[in-house]
This record gives sequence, C-alpha cells and structure tokens, in this order.
Amino acid sequence: SANGLGVEIVSVINKLQDVFSAVGSSASQIDLPQICVLGSQSSGKSSVLENIVGRDFLPRGTGIVTRRPLVLQLIHRAATSGGPAVNGADKGTDKAANADEWGEFLHLPGEKFYDFNKIRDEIVRDTEAKTGRNAGISPQPINLRVYSPNVLTLTLVDLPGLTKVPVGDQPKDIEKQIKDMLLKYISKPACIILAVTAANTDLANSDGLKLAREVDPEGTRTIGVLTKVDLMDTGTDVVDILAGRIIPLRLGYVPVVNRGQRDIETSKPISAALDKERDFFENHASYKGKAQYCGTPFLARKLNMILMHHIRSTLPDIKARITQQLQKFNAELVSLGGPLGDGNSGNVVLSVITEFTSEFRTTIDGNTNDLSLNE
Ligand code: GDP
Ligand code: NA
Ligand code: MG
Repeated sequence: SANGLGVEIVSVINKLQDVFSAVGSSASQIDLPQICVLGSQSSGKSSVLENIVGRDFLPRGTGIVTRRPLVLQLIHRAATSGGPAVNGADKGTDKAANADEWGEFLHLPGEKFYDFNKIRDEIVRDTEAKTGRNAGISPQPINLRVYSPNVLTLTLVDLPGLTKVPVGDQPKDIEKQIKDMLLKYISKPACIILAVTAANTDLANSDGLKLAREVDPEGTRTIGVLTKVDLMDTGTDVVDILAGRIIPLRLGYVPVVNRGQRDIETSKPISAALDKERDFFENHASYKGKAQYCGTPFLARKLNMILMHHIRSTLPDIKARITQQLQKFNAELVSLGGPLGDGNSGNVVLSVITEFTSEFRTTIDGNTNDLSLNE
C-alpha cells in the first residue's frame, strides 16, 4: 500500500469505528493522537510527513517554505466501488487519482480537490494570502481534510521550522514566535513528536530534540527521525546515534532518505523515492545489516505500534462508557413503559466489543512482538 500507515491498523480501527456507529455513540470515538513534526528549517519535516501519508501534496524546498501550521486530517471513507478515475488529475502524482480520494480545505467549504497538485497550489496561495510573499509566518493554521479509503483516520500537523535569524518580513523575535507556535501543538500529551534532524548536521545542536525534551522529558512520545542520511560525508554514518550512544531516546531513531531538491524539481514520484531509499540502506556498508530498522516503512511501523498501544490502553475506558450508555438507555426504555430492559440488545453490542477487544489484543501482539521500543 502507498499509504505508509499499514493496511492492518486501518482495518482494525475501521472495524471498531463501525461497531461504534452501529451503537450510535459519539462518546465512544477513539481519540487517536496527533502526529507533529518538529525540527529546524529545511531539516526535511514536510518531506517526512508526505512520505508517511504516501501522497505528494505538501510544499517543500530550501528556505522557509512551511510558514503556517498545516493541520491535516486524514479521514477514512469506504471506497465507492468502481468509482470513475478523474481525468487529468493524476499528473505528477503517484497513483492515478480517482473519485474516492480528495482533499477539502476548511476555508473553501464544499470544494473538492481531486488533484493533489492543486492542493499544494492552494496551500501556497493561502499561505501567501495570509502572510505575504516575503517569508512572513503566521500561527493561523491551514486546515485540510483528506478523504480516502486508503488512510487511517488520523491527524498530522506540518509545522514551520525552528529558526534563529529573521529574514524578509519576519519579526525580530522570530525565534520566540515560532517556538511559541510549536509549543502550542507539541505540549499536548496526545501529540506524538517526530523530532526531525538532518543527519549531516550535529545532533547535539538539534533544536527539535531540545524542544521535544522540554515537553516530553521522559521521551515517551518522541521519535527521532534522521533525514538526509544520503548527504553525509563518505566514511561517516549514524550508527552511533541509532545505538543510543550520542543522545539516547527511549523510542529510538529512524534514519530516512527523502527526495532531494532535484527530485522535487523533476516531480520524482514517492514510489520511486521509496525504492531508492530501500536500495540505499540495503547496499550501504554501515546499514545493510540493519536495513529493516531503517527508512520510511520502518518509521510507519513504529508509528503503527505506538498507535496500537494507545488504542489498547483506551479500550477499557471506551467499553466502560458504552456499558454506562446502555444502562441509561435501558432505564429510559423502562420509564417509557417499554419492554422490560432485559439488556438483550445491549448484551449483543457488548459481546461484539469484548470479542473485538480480545481479537485486537491478538492482532497487536502479533504486530509488535518484533518491535521493541528500543531499536
Ligand atoms: P522542512 O523545511 O523541514 O519542511 O524541509 P523540506 O521537507 O521542505 O525539505 C527541505 C529540503 O531538503 C528540500 O529541498 C528537500 O528536497 C531536501 N531533503 C529533505 N530530506 C532529504 C533527504 O533525506 N535527502 C536529500 N538528499 N534531501 C532531502
Ligand atoms: Na524548507
Ligand atoms: Mg516544511
């Protein structure tokens, strides 16, 4: 699947959400954590996020490109079988676009974008409309929803990078303004932080790691991501960082290779970039022994594992809330003089959830046995 977040977790969660909608309970939604990227300007944050989503649609490039937060809500939506391909919408993207997959901006209600290149154009246009063309920034987020049968209902946030020296129209206190903007997102306990550092810079100077540590001192929700491993000087590698010998992180680091500036200019598809990334790690003297712990697919598996654990820990609470609701419904039925609430219909729902919970445990255990928290 082009969607980095795995078919398995998508189907598991969708199944659970189907049960909830059958119960008609909005109080029992699973609140999945938000995933935020954090790091210095041009460290590769937008590139990492885009690879995880598996679609090309984010503005990327040298200099300050991401100048407002982009709150990206992926929303799973069942495929309408045999939906017609939307002609001309697949130029420069991975897959032929089809009528089942589209984006919608909060500021343009009702307008569906089937062409992901046009989504990128609109992000650029609205960024310029609110912040000008000269490197200005704004904390006002752009809200984009992507509906697709291939995604997990999940929120990802692309953020401007940490920077120190004002350029263009940026205010003198740009460093503080960006930091405050980032803190609003990454302080939330339900935020998983992808702390992005370019491998060709010194980890000890990583502003992303530094800020992540301020909000997550125990390191329970910070994953280190090392980008630009392909741009390191010959003879150097990130092996010591991966082994936790430089700055240890509880959830570890994942090295990745994203598309370079030239790949962006020539619209290299994500699928080709992922092939190149795999070749890089499998054939590099320093990484070939541990290639399965490198690259975007492994990062996606790590995220899966964290999401699975999160869901598992919230299941008992969800079950309790549903039980409570069923008791309330039964009491109402009785007070309305309806059939005595023998709980039959309720028991059916509960047993579905109980069954689901144990099935789900098996799925998670099967999935995470090979993934220790410290790779
Ligand atoms: P952001 O500012 O942190 O969002 O970074 P971008 O994703 O916009 O990337 C900044 C620049 O670095 C772009 O020109 C990317 O093509 C390039 N880049 C990002 N990751 C990598 C990588 O792993 N390898 C190479 N060669 N270039 C990368
Ligand atoms: Na950039
Ligand atoms: Mg960016």
